Order: sequence, then structure tokens, then C-alpha cells
Amino acid sequence: MSKVDDRDQVRADQIATWDAVSDGWLAWTAEFERAAGAVSAELVRLAGVRPGQSVLDYGTGLGEPAFTVADTVGPTGEVVGVDLSPRMVARARERAAGRRGVRFLVGGPEVVPGGHDAVLSRWVLPLAADRVGLLRALRAALRPGGTLAAAVWGPPAEVPMIALGFRVLAGLLELPPPPPGPSPFALADPTALRDEVAAAGFREVLVTEVVVDFRLAAPDAFADFALDVLPPRLHGALRERYGDAHHPEVRSALVGAVDGFRTDDGGLSLPSRCLLVRGVA
Ligand SMILES: C[S@@+](CC[C@H](N)C(=O)[O-])C[C@H]1O[C@@H](n2cnc3c(N)ncnc32)[C@H](O)[C@@H]1O
Repeated sequence: MSKVDDRDQVRADQIATWDAVSDGWLAWTAEFERAAGAVSAELVRLAGVRPGQSVLDYGTGLGEPAFTVADTVGPTGEVVGVDLSPRMVARARERAAGRRGVRFLVGGPEVVPGGHDAVLSRWVLPLAADRVGLLRALRAALRPGGTLAAAVWGPPAEVPMIALGFRVLAGLLELPPPPPGPSPFALADPTALRDEVAAAGFREVLVTEVVVDFRLAAPDAFADFALDVLPPRLHGALRERYGDAHHPEVRSALVGAVDGFRTDDGGLSLPSRCLLVRGVA
């Protein structure tokens, strides 16, 4: 397969995956944002977003950090969220109903308007086939001196909220390790992150970290979450093997895997390491 075919395939896979999980993520948004909201707030702070500014949220999904940014830029500012997945964008538009100053576009770098004061992006860069190419396009969307602030996940072993469910289910299904390539954890090395952002032409590149303490009410809720946001390929494999993705054996493996994350009140704390990068165009 040529590089161009690779990129087309990655893009098509991302659209199919995120379209399929959009409703599952929507069901968990309120709970997820209780912890993830701190990352949106930190991106706003790192980029120095102020009232009246124009900001792009690249890979906005259901609308974060776009909604947090909209609250910061206020009525004289403007926020545009861009995402490849039509269904994620449809959900973001529904969530935006009645809000002014925030709009959403379906597509990739080709639909991004230019001249922004800041570009923010939460948990998207590692999903791209050509990360430096994407970062160059994001730099081109900034005015000179504008700021990029992006979040990516750390290594899977330190991101239980996102990685643990996959690990357990891949083990049950005896799947081989995933091939190298785009994944939520493909940019988990702070040095590689800094180098790629610098390679795209950003100046004053700075990498920091934050631990996002995801809380769930009970171990059973982790099983629900992991299965609700599971990519369709794994969902299909579970159905084939167990007849139902929510088979008791599947749920008990997920519940057992979070035993070490229980809190005194019977809930769960799943601290997950997140890298933050800032660069100036
Ligand atoms: C992990 S979700 C993050 C969504 C949102 N930013 C958040 O933090 O909740 C990743 C999103 O990036 C989108 N995406 C993946 N690859 C993309 C690309 N190359 N360009 C634009 N969007 C992309 C997906 O459709 C999905 O909505």
C-alpha cells in the first residue's frame, strides 16, 4: 500500500470508528468531563485564550475543548470545532443548540479556516497518519504568533481509564498486539511529542504533564463504560465469541481488572497520565 493509500485508510477507519462510538461516548460525556474538563481548562490556560479571540478546536469530537473555549472567548469571540466524524459533529451541534459563537465543521485539515489566535486539540494528534503534516496544517491555521495547545495520552500502562478495558478484552479475545501506527498512545513519549511539534515549525515548544483522576461510582460502571465506547471491531469479536458483548465472563474480567483502583467509598479512581504541549506559530 502506498503512503497515500495508508492515509486514506487511516482516515476512513477513524471516521467509521468514531461514528460507531458517538452515542456511547455521548452517554458518558457528563461523567467523563468531570475529570477531563480540567484538561480543557489547562489547554485554554496554556494557549492564553482571552475574551474576543478566534480559536480552532481540532478533533473536537462531542465538543471539547470547544465549549470550554466558547465560555472563555465570550460573545465577542469565535470558536470553530472540526472533526472527521459526521456523527460526532452531529452530536456536538445538538449539544451546542442555543449557544452563540461556536460552530462545527466535518472534515480534516482541508476544511480548517485560517487566522486563529489559538488552536487547541484534546487527544487527537496521535490518531493521525501523518502527525507532522497535520501539525504543519494547524500552524498554518494560526496567525503569526498564535499558539497551539494540545493534549495526548501517556503510555497505556499509565492511562487505565482508556487503556485498561482494551487490554482486558484483547486478552480475552487472544488478539495479537496491535501493529504500530495511529492509536491513542502513539505520541506518549514527551521527547517525541516535543520534537514533532518543533519539526512542524512551532517555536518555544514546551511539554508539561497532568494526571487526570477519572472517578466512577462502582467497578460495574467501568465495565459499562469500557463496553459502551468499544470500537466496533472489538465489539463484533466479543459478540462472535460470547454471543453478547455484555456476557457475564466479559463483565467479570473488566470488573476484576479494576480491583486495585477501588476507593474507600466503593467507587473507583483511575488516574490517567496526560501530556500537554504548547508551541508558538
Ligand atoms: C479521542 S476523541 C477526542 C474528542 C474530543 N477532542 C475530546 O477530547 O473529547 C478523537 C476525535 O478525533 C477525531 N479524529 C481522529 N482523527 C482525526 C483527524 N486526523 N482529523 C480530525 N479529527 C480526527 C475523531 O473523529 C474523534 O472525534
